[in-house]
Amino acid sequence: MIRAAITGVASYVPKRVITNFDLEKMVDTNDEWIVSRTGIKERRVAAEGEASSDMSVSAVTKLLAETGTKAEEIDAIIVATVTPDMLFPSTAALIQEKIGAVNAWGYDLSGACSGFLFALKSGSSLIQTGSKKVIVVGVDTMSSILDYTDRNTCILFGDGGGAVLLEPTEDENFGMIDDILRIDGSGADALHMKAGGSRKPATHATVDAREHYIYQDGRSVFKRASNDMANVSAEILEKNNLKAEDVGIFIPHQANKRIIDVAARKAGFKDEQVLLNIDKYGNTTAGTLPLGLDEVVRNGRIKDGDLVLFAAFGAGYTWGSILLRYGPSKKG
Ligand code: UT7
Repeated sequence: MIRAAITGVASYVPKRVITNFDLEKMVDTNDEWIVSRTGIKERRVAAEGEASSDMSVSAVTKLLAETGTKAEEIDAIIVATVTPDMLFPSTAALIQEKIGAVNAWGYDLSGACSGFLFALKSGSSLIQTGSKKVIVVGVDTMSSILDYTDRNTCILFGDGGGAVLLEPTEDENFGMIDDILRIDGSGADALHMKAGGSRKPATHATVDAREHYIYQDGRSVFKRASNDMANVSAEILEKNNLKAEDVGIFIPHQANKRIIDVAARKAGFKDEQVLLNIDKYGNTTAGTLPLGLDEVVRNGRIKDGDLVLFAAFGAGYTWGSILLRYGPSKKG
């Protein structure tokens, strides 16, 4: 059986840091509230004019160099993002042009905080139907849709992302094993951007009403996220006859440390098995999972063949989990 294997990962975050203390000067908030309610201490913010395709190109260029992959070998580029450079053309097309992937096709995918999982599943399906090299990107420039006068949302999010290279393997010690992925549109009211789409195109009035920013009913999302991300993480382990101790690393979406703690507890993970970098980056939406994977691969917390469990929850609602064995990593 052919499986998609992750043979490399790279990520990118912008240089500029905004700390909780910086935010104290912008809205009525404080470091103690943000840290205790979310676990976030600082987040990265894109430079003026730096967009999702730019951050992606930085990550993908590094990925290609480190895996010894030529841009012309890439069959497809899938980009999970809710902050594309433009509504069209796709961010995938912009990345394709900038890196010179002359033989690739590709597309953007809107799955919010679960976007990287959905893109990984899509990329895996392409590998299983004959593609040889697929780039999967999870990236968001959340600062472009954040209202820095709204303390309910502006403290939560940051910019960044990462990319993985998928290649086929027949070796059972590597690659995608299982996934549980879900959407539930009844969550649309709780987390969305009101204007700028076909429902409510941009007008002076929509801009004046600040409707091109994120709207979130935090408490409703918190309840569902805690419940569903915990359940799906436990469910995929049970479905695969695995115990938490079999897993090398649990990489949950980084929206709130309290949500992560609930999921980790329910699935039975010890602290050292859980990737936590929300303190440094906040919630980068589709970026959190590849950023997390890159961190654990680079600092040696996992090695080739280790079991990785991803889990996420986000706007839609969208949620799910993916279980895989990392590697075999390619060195360029
Ligand atoms: O990744 C996409 C999915 N998103 C999520 O998973 C996020 C889910 N939601 C959350 O993480 C949490 O709901 C938040 C972090 C957004 C909020 O935490 P909370 O514990 O649910 O707080 P709350 O909304 O119930 O607000 C508690 C209090 C309120 O004041 P009152 O009404 O009790 O007087 C808020 O007005 O905290 C106030 N508050 C703040 N205070 C200081 C809200 N935001 C802030 C703030 N600084 N930034």
